[in-house]
This record gives sequence, C-alpha cells and structure tokens, in this order.
Amino acid sequence: MRDHFEIRDHAAAGRIGRLEVPRAGVTVETPALLPVVNPNVLTIEPRRIREEFGAEMLITNSYIIRSTDRIRDRVLEEGLHEFLGFDGAIMTDSGSFQLAEYGDIDVTTAEILEFQRRIGSDVATPVDVPTPPDADRDRAERDLETTRTALADAEAADTGRMLVNAPVQGSTYPELREAAGRHAAGTDLDVFPVGAMVPLLNSYRYADVIEAVTAAKRGLDPDCPVHLFGAGHPMMLALAVAMGCDLFDSAAYALMARDGRYLTVSGTDHLAEMEYFPCSCPVCVDHTPAELREGDDDEAERLLAEHNLHVTFEEIRRIKGAIRSGTLLELVDRRARGHPAMLDGLRTLLDRTDRLEAADPVSKDAFFYTSHESARRPEVRRHHDRLARLETPPKLLVTESKPPSNHEYDAVWRVKPPFGPFPRALSETYPLTAETPDRTDAAAQTAAAEGVRRLAETSPDSAITLGHAGWVPEALDVVPDRVDVEDLRDLGR
Ligand code: GUN
Ligand code: ZN
Repeated sequence: MRDHFEIRDHAAAGRIGRLEVPRAGVTVETPALLPVVNPNVLTIEPRRIREEFGAEMLITNSYIIRSTDRIRDRVLEEGLHEFLGFDGAIMTDSGSFQLAEYGDIDVTTAEILEFQRRIGSDVATPVDVPTPPDADRDRAERDLETTRTALADAEAADTGRMLVNAPVQGSTYPELREAAGRHAAGTDLDVFPVGAMVPLLNSYRYADVIEAVTAAKRGLDPDCPVHLFGAGHPMMLALAVAMGCDLFDSAAYALMARDGRYLTVSGTDHLAEMEYFPCSCPVCVDHTPAELREGDDDEAERLLAEHNLHVTFEEIRRIKGAIRSGTLLELVDRRARGHPAMLDGLRTLLDRTDRLEAADPVSKDAFFYTSHESARRPEVRRHHDRLARLETPPKLLVTESKPPSNHEYDAVWRVKPPFGPFPRALSETYPLTAETPDRTDAAAQTAAAEGVRRLAETSPDSAITLGHAGWVPEALDVVPDRVDVEDLRDLGR
C-alpha cells in the first residue's frame, strides 16, 4: 500500500483517488490537472488558477527559478507559495526538460532536490533523463541507468515531508519502460511520472503513448499514483485516465494561447479562423472571436489561456463523473470520434483489454454501444469468458428473436450483439442490459458470433441452433459448423 495515495473508485483502468501531500497539508483529488506556471510569465495569476478554476495543485520549474537571478533570491526568501500567491500543493520540476531540450544543465539531483526543499516545494523531482522516442536502444539503456542513479540519489537525500517524483523513462521500448516502472515502484519515492511523452503528444502519436504508459504500468504497482508528464490537451485526457494515469500537467493552455490557439475536447482551433465560440465559459460568453482579434494582443492571449484552462478543467470534471457512473469508456469513445489519432489511441487501448479488465468493476450504468469499437470492450470479452461456466441442456436454441411459441428445444437463450448468447434469466444483469442500436453492425455481429463459438466449444455435449437476424458473412464464418444456423428473416420471424 502506497502511503500517500488512496484509490476510491474505478472505471476501465481509470480511477478516482486521493493524493495526500503532507508538506502542503492538503489532499488532492485525482485525476488532477496541474497547470504549468512559468515563474517568469504569470499568464494567469496562480491565485485565480486556484479560486476561479479550482486547481488544487500546480507545477512550476525549480531549475528556471534557480537559474534566474531576478527571482531566485526572492523565492528563497519568501518561499514558493508566497511568491506565486498559491496556497494549494506545488510540484516542482528539476530541469530535466531543459536537459532534454538543450543537452546540458548545471545541476545535480542532490543540489536541485535541496533547492526544491529550501523553496518549499511540496512534490520535488530528481534529474531524470528524458530519452526521446525512437532513440537507439543502447542510448535508452544508458539514459535509464543515469535515471536509476538519480532515483537512488533522491532516496538518499534529506527531503523531509516533501514528496518526491520517481520518473519512468525508457523511450519507445516497452520492455525498458516496464523495467523502469518496476525499479521506480521498488524505491521509497512517492509519485510516478511517465516521462519523455511531450514529443509523442505533440505529434499526436497516441498509440505510442499508450504502449509506453501501459508498459510502465505493468512494472508499477496498481496503487502507484501515475503522472503523465506534459499531457494537458483536453482531447486526450479521458484516454489517458482510462489507461490509469492520475496526474496531468498542462502547459498547453498557455503555450497554445500564445499562438492564437483555442482548445476543445476534439482538437485545436485557430482564433484567426473562428466566427463563433462554441463554449460557455466566462470568456466565451463575454466575447466574440472578432473582439479578441481586434483587441489588445496580450489581453487576447490571456483570455484564450483562460478559455483553454476552463475547457481543460471542465473535461477533468466530466471524466470524474464518468468514472463514478462507470461510463468512462463511452466518453473515450466519443473523444475518439474527434480526431483520427485519438481513434488509434482507443484501438490500442482496446488491444490491451485484458489489462483494462483486471481493474474494471462489474456493475454500473448501462453499457452503451456507440461505435464498432464498443464490440471490443472488456465487458464483451468478460461475457465470453463467463459462457464457459454456464450449464447448457442437450438441445439449445440461441436466438435474436423472441422464443418460438412451440418448439422442441430444452431451452431458448437470447442472443444480443455484441455479447452473444445468454440465458434469459441474465437479461437484467450488467452488461446484458446494454443499450444497443436496433441496426447492429458487422463488428457487433462478429463479436456475438464469437460468443456462439465459445459456447459451442465449452459445451461439446449440447446440440446448438443459432437464430440470427441477417448477420454478415464474416460473422457467420466465425460460427462453427456443428452449430445449426437459421436466418430468422427466412423463417419469417
Ligand atoms: N516534463 C515533461 N517531460 C518530462 C520528463 O520526462 N521529465 C521531467 N523531469 N520533466 C518533464
Ligand atoms: Zn470558453
């Protein structure tokens, strides 16, 4: 059991949790979004970030503070909370990002941790090495060795009540990510960021993001709080939560605003091309795109940043609600319709369905079939696994129609795409209460046919007949020859 993290609720691999931050004297509810605050440029005052946007935690960069004469002494004297005017929890980064960008920094883990402690950071970061995606394997392994040393230095440092991050690196090598996760979980450090994601996120390589995160999580323990370093675009937060990430940091809200970009849950729009604001945040209610374009540039940037932050926090709240009602995968499915890269992300997530299954609780709101990806959800596989445990009579009809009024079967079960067959008595149990469209698609029919195949395999002594309402040939190909197949439309039912 991790001392500072408690998981309260689950959906898919996503969870609602509570991260206790002892030095700040607060408990932060996760999934949490940490706005990135540049200590040199306060686009939005941190006090407002807390009061108007509800941020419980933010992240800033101790390396920038340490290297900027103008602010270093002030921060050392006043403390970080006073300097920023923020009384929530503050996480600080170490300069690793600068290391990745510029190849060199002039600080060790011991020095920067000591500095973070002195300025009053609540969650500190050692100097990990963010190996870029697609680096060669030798380099990824060498960098990982350096990161391991940084974690050891962090364990040895006097950090008091400050929590400490244990970043997980390993570039695009799943085995290295997994090994790094296992090593990090074995330290006595507290929070587990998956690092070097920024290049993947910036180029919308969500399938690779999922591979890296799921590999890291195989090595980490399920109760480790996981931070997706550099992820804060509202479009991908539901997907990231569904794979088990708990903390996010958004620099996007401010960086994008600088370039005149307007974030939405399905992508990024350009202020220059917008005629209407589709959002109901205070900024969008009070202004039109034309007003922002024609007004003062700095003011427009700040207002855009505010909108960007509003939509991001709104999405975090929506995600938490979806976890509570057990509809997170439906939300991810909706988000996947917004951008093709997100669809790749969802498909990769569903390839990992066995991992999702381990964490997904069984009973919740109705399962909604909203796209052919729904046919690959863990509930469908779980139902197929359950078929093996059901008793079947010698002569069994499984059918999409109502039971025929007179028949010579020992039992008549329902067939419901995408699940396949089940005894009528289970009709009112999750997930068979699913809301599905009347016009089923090939993916749902094929998944249902898979259920029929599983039943036929695990009940070799039963004679099984399938009644289907015009399934596509690919679905019928899945049904074994020993099952009698009747097209209900031919029977006039
Ligand atoms: N910020 C974004 N990515 C990273 C990372 O990999 N390591 C650290 N320390 N900070 C980051
Ligand atoms: Zn808005």
